[in-house]
Amino acid sequence: MLESIQLEANVAFPTVAHAELQASAQPSISVKRRQSILFVTSEIADYIKAGGLGEVSAALPRALRHHYDVRILIPGYRQVLSQIGPVEEIGRLPASFGIPACGLGRGTTQDGLTVYVLLCPELYDRDGSPYVDGFGVDWSDNDIRFARLGLAAADIACGNGDHLWRADLLHLNDWPSGLASAYLVWRGQHIPTILTIHNLAYQGNFDRSRLSHLGIPDAAFQINGVEFYGKLSFLKAGIYYSSHITTVSSTYAHEITRPEFGCGLDGLLRTCAEQGRLDGIINGIDESWDPSTDPYLVSPFSAENCRGKRANANNVRQNFGLALSNGPLFAVVSRLVHQKGVDLAISAAETIVSQGGQIAVIGQGEPRFENELQALAHRHPGSVGVKIGYDEGDARRMYAGSDFLLMPSRFEPCGLSQMYAQRFGSLPIAHRTGGLADTIEDGVNGFLFGEPSLNRFKDAIKRGLDTFRSRPRLTAMRRAAMQRPHGWDRSASRYQEVYQRACQTALA
Ligand code: ADP
Ligand code: GLC
Repeated sequence: MLESIQLEANVAFPTVAHAELQASAQPSISVKRRQSILFVTSEIADYIKAGGLGEVSAALPRALRHHYDVRILIPGYRQVLSQIGPVEEIGRLPASFGIPACGLGRGTTQDGLTVYVLLCPELYDRDGSPYVDGFGVDWSDNDIRFARLGLAAADIACGNGDHLWRADLLHLNDWPSGLASAYLVWRGQHIPTILTIHNLAYQGNFDRSRLSHLGIPDAAFQINGVEFYGKLSFLKAGIYYSSHITTVSSTYAHEITRPEFGCGLDGLLRTCAEQGRLDGIINGIDESWDPSTDPYLVSPFSAENCRGKRANANNVRQNFGLALSNGPLFAVVSRLVHQKGVDLAISAAETIVSQGGQIAVIGQGEPRFENELQALAHRHPGSVGVKIGYDEGDARRMYAGSDFLLMPSRFEPCGLSQMYAQRFGSLPIAHRTGGLADTIEDGVNGFLFGEPSLNRFKDAIKRGLDTFRSRPRLTAMRRAAMQRPHGWDRSASRYQEVYQRACQTALA
């Protein structure tokens, strides 16, 4: 039976021998073998996330699974192993230089997506986030922890992890998986690799003395390799050695080729762009972001009928210690870091409160911002409420209940929060940069300001307050925001094109 089936890969690419057949074996039926993609990530919202990367890692593979045999590789953090359900150990990956051996586990998400999990308790069985300990300090062995991830990705791609599967293409995300493409090149393996940059500011830079521990050849420590201003950089390695680079909006793809946004890598990224190796593909948001069905909301609503927003607003007021009010409610849902312009939001608070507005903030991050926000709430009881931490239900009710979302990010590769806010009828007030510029139409479905200064931000807030006072205008803008297409379909098609191009380049 088997030999009468004609296997046909989607692209002209030498396929691996052991593709898992998706259709039942019938003589003379032509079966298109789905290409196999290994999606390598350091967070996935199903089990653990620190921000938008975790949400994209949960959504994009699902948007692509109809077209590909896409599997996820993630470190076996405590939070992953405690939630994923049964994990079968299907192989062992050997130690290499200073990188310890580990088991390779295989589990599945509730909806049947295959997840490869690295079983290495000494590296991953800890409380805290994927990157930092409970005090917000980077784990001191992050180089080994994520070199382990990159090396495993290279091994699995080549069929040395799961002996029944190998990858036609590796999709890497941010610096934690950046070394995977380098390991493949150093082994002479020509498997196409895509690196998606979610945030250029996080680079995974380490001392050069770590090279030998990570199995990085001395010869690779140069400008055409892993070296970045005297350091070893995982992100630079990923950019240099991957077949293709994407980032998460078109505007950010242009911005990062300029010194102001390039974080020292703009020269290399300009070269990538000139070679046609750099694309911007905007993120989507998944279907759970629907205010008419979201189980976290106190009251459902829709673009046609927004009355339910009020009950959600009152719930937020109650939860954040705010007074009952008919005035505008502003939300901040954010990692509390410099990138997000938290200082600008704090400085603009007086303007909002003096005009009868209220502010609810949820997030965590740099201690100085956490402290300043708590002091702000203390100064404005009933008008400013702050929760340090993160809670999915609170966040969703804040998008649903608020009238405006403050997002004065200094740079924003894509940004998901503004899209969640729009979908839930809260108008983002945001700096015209990166994905914010690509998803917000000024005066139509949100407000944009041109430079990240307090005065420009306050001008945009004033425009928001004026709109709030004109009900018909507010309703029209809300409706436009809620109806803006936000899904993953278009972006998933763009990734398909990029995959195809990367495979063709690898063949050439
Ligand atoms: P970034 O990834 O830079 O933080 P995004 O706008 O892409 O920015 O993603 C923000 C989303 O990440 C928020 O809407 C929220 O869902 C989630 N998020 C924000 N802060 C936290 C946090 N401390 N822990 C977990 N998720 C968070
Ligand atoms: C990063 C970026 C954010 C983006 C997210 C998902 O965390 O800061 O702008 O939305 O990744 O791609």
